[in-house]
Amino acid sequence: MGNYDQEINRRRTFAIISHPDAGKTTLTEKFLLYGGAINLAGSVKGKATARHAVSDWMEIEKERGISVTSSVLQFEYDHYCINILDTPGHQDFSEDTYRTLMAADSAVMVIDASKGVEAQTRKLFKVCVMRKIPIFTFINKMDRDANDTFDLLDEIEKELGIATCPINWPIGSGKGFQGVYDRESGKVITYSDTQKGTREGTATEFELQDEATALEQIGAQAMEKLVGEIELLDGASAEFDLELVRSGDLTPVFFGSALTNFGVEIFLKHFLKMTTTPLPRKADVGIINPTEREFSAFVFKIQANMNKAHRDRVAFMRICSGRFDAGMEVKHVQGNKVMRLSQPQQIMADERKILEEAFAGDIIGVFDPGIFSIGDTLCMPKEQFCYEGIPTFAPEHFARVRQLDTMKRKQFVKGITQIAQEGAIQIFQEFNTGLEEIIVGVVGVLQFEVLKYRLENEYNVEIRLEPLPYEHIRWIENKDEIDLNKLQGTSDMKKVKDLKGNPLLLFINAWSVGMTLDRNKGLVLSEFGRD
Ligand code: G4P
Repeated sequence: MGNYDQEINRRRTFAIISHPDAGKTTLTEKFLLYGGAINLAGSVKGKATARHAVSDWMEIEKERGISVTSSVLQFEYDHYCINILDTPGHQDFSEDTYRTLMAADSAVMVIDASKGVEAQTRKLFKVCVMRKIPIFTFINKMDRDANDTFDLLDEIEKELGIATCPINWPIGSGKGFQGVYDRESGKVITYSDTQKGTREGTATEFELQDEATALEQIGAQAMEKLVGEIELLDGASAEFDLELVRSGDLTPVFFGSALTNFGVEIFLKHFLKMTTTPLPRKADVGIINPTEREFSAFVFKIQANMNKAHRDRVAFMRICSGRFDAGMEVKHVQGNKVMRLSQPQQIMADERKILEEAFAGDIIGVFDPGIFSIGDTLCMPKEQFCYEGIPTFAPEHFARVRQLDTMKRKQFVKGITQIAQEGAIQIFQEFNTGLEEIIVGVVGVLQFEVLKYRLENEYNVEIRLEPLPYEHIRWIENKDEIDLNKLQGTSDMKKVKDLKGNPLLLFINAWSVGMTLDRNKGLVLSEFGRD
């Protein structure tokens, strides 16, 4: 409908998922280098803050009020406008990390070649699968001794349950790393250890068929091994099928070394061709197509400002259709209010930029005086619809909250409820009692510190947290069909309910989840909560 189709269609919005230290930051820096967004790799902000210890968290959060970490990076490359969403790791890992994936149209999974699939990747991968978004795999650190390539692919297939299709194939690893073989063109691209930060490598390319050159470049032994592996691969691996990639059933796999800048541009080029333009999204009125509607967006993350002097927050929203213009009137559907979004901004590599316009696929941050909730929809004033809500993700750490001064009950309940509504923590109660006993669940343990600090500073309430041994929580999908009093659980199981009265089960062992399912025919449990 709009003449902005072209702007929308050139957008690519993706998240990078990985375990800490696999090379996410280094790869992002190299992407930016190709995009010309920064001159020298190494200046991506947020790296320093990603590595902080719990003790200096408060300082970091204060700074965040000003710099809001590098949550989203936008850059241009080869006529594409690319948005990279950061999925924080380390102690920063929280429900927000999962929510960020709700705003992406595809994911790049970075795997350390000597470590294989690690815990955080596994967790984030589950969310990608739930959304059925395309997943691209970059196996990094090939300049270091790597696990056997077939074993790595096997591990991805078995552990993550997704078929793999190598687009290129490594020749050796570590000191013996010689480059990659591109399966489509039949060419070998030799490895060159470029200086950190330079854009151009000095790699040479030749056809593997050109035996004389191949022998001279990589030697007889490597050549024989490569030819054997390719034969095996052609016979055994899944064929490339763009439809399966787009539905999230097949992951294209690339090999490289982000640090030495090898294989990064090849990856970027293939990735941009294979990934999708901004995807349509489900709403209560049906599917909303990015180019067929005027502006609409949903809120996927709210960042509270820890600085007491500024109790404002930033709401991050993903534009799902049309064009956003600074100053335009929009409707906040859940608040049933027409408004102008205040201080719309884009978070760039090294600055927060006030923006004039943005398009479907882009992420914008707006000043939030406390009116937005996660999952809220914004659309044109004349329209009325809601995007499908954002699920609640399973916390992995639990603690009982004890209030030190029982006289401050009111502030306590108000504070903890508000913080839960913002989405930083989840709160649960004993199944058969009221709010006397509150159990708090978090995705990352840092959120416990956040809760304690905010209750003290914003609500003047002191609490003590007593850790509980539960690690697994499950929502009961078919709660109307199940009589909770008759449920045959395991001895480590605890029944709780959330603020809306939904029943949930807590377990200490993963094994007990399966046991409880076995003992109760018809019971359906889920790791995601949906209202
Ligand atoms: P992350 O964001 O996923 O946590 O990982 P990051 O990029 O910070 O990389 C973690 C460490 O791995 C860094 O080293 C980085 O230089 C190194 N690294 C990343 N890609 C490669 C690669 O392709 N090959 C090799 N050999 N190393 C790689 P560090 O010593 O922890 O940090 P730094 O002092 O180098 O920044």
